[in-house]
Amino acid sequence: MELFESLQRRRAVRDFTTAPVPEDILKKLVYAARRAPTVGNAPYRRILLVNNPATIRLVKQVSPGIRGSPAALIIMITDLDAAKQLGRLGAICSPMDAGAAAENVLLAAVDLGLGACLAKSYSEEGLKEILDIPANCRTEIIVQLGYPKKELPPSVKPKADADAIYLDRYGRTWEA
Ligand SMILES: Cc1cc2nc3c(=O)[nH]c(=O)nc-3n(C[C@H](O)[C@H](O)[C@H](O)COP(=O)(O)O)c2cc1C
Repeated sequence: MELFESLQRRRAVRDFTTAPVPEDILKKLVYAARRAPTVGNAPYRRILLVNNPATIRLVKQVSPGIRGSPAALIIMITDLDAAKQLGRLGAICSPMDAGAAAENVLLAAVDLGLGACLAKSYSEEGLKEILDIPANCRTEIIVQLGYPKKELPPSVKPKADADAIYLDRYGRTWEA
């Protein structure tokens, strides 16, 4: 699928069928995440894939942001000890690095016929306990994934209300 078609087809998908996501597809999604940049090219991003249905059910119990039953979760995590080696820059930029990886996964999911949605509404404490995530790590975002229960129509228009576009200086509007 062409990138711009994926951009238009990407919608927040929260309802999934019970079909599992095959391992080769999961590997492609993780590859997409790993292609995303990190500040200073520093290796502090950790990617935790969860596809065990029982574990996902536990995660769902501590995650109001997960409404349906995803077949897989890809969780972006920052190793704060590793980030500290970059000083403030690592600590501040790491959520953005996680966001970049998450967006790559969202777009790759479209290309692979999956539906996906971010989830930030969860108990970090709960997540850490269920998934054995060490204290020196910060969970940044969950990407919930699966085969969509129903096809959402593509959304062609940019998010006009969300993003104001300016040219050359703040406040000078521009028709993008
Ligand atoms: C940082 C971030 C956190 C989000 N957390 C949640 C969440 O916890 N649960 C949820 O259902 N959607 C969540 N979303 C999805 C947004 O609600 C959704 O992307 C937005 O409504 C726009 O819809 P669209 O993705 O179809 O364009 C999150 C999105 C972002 C960017």
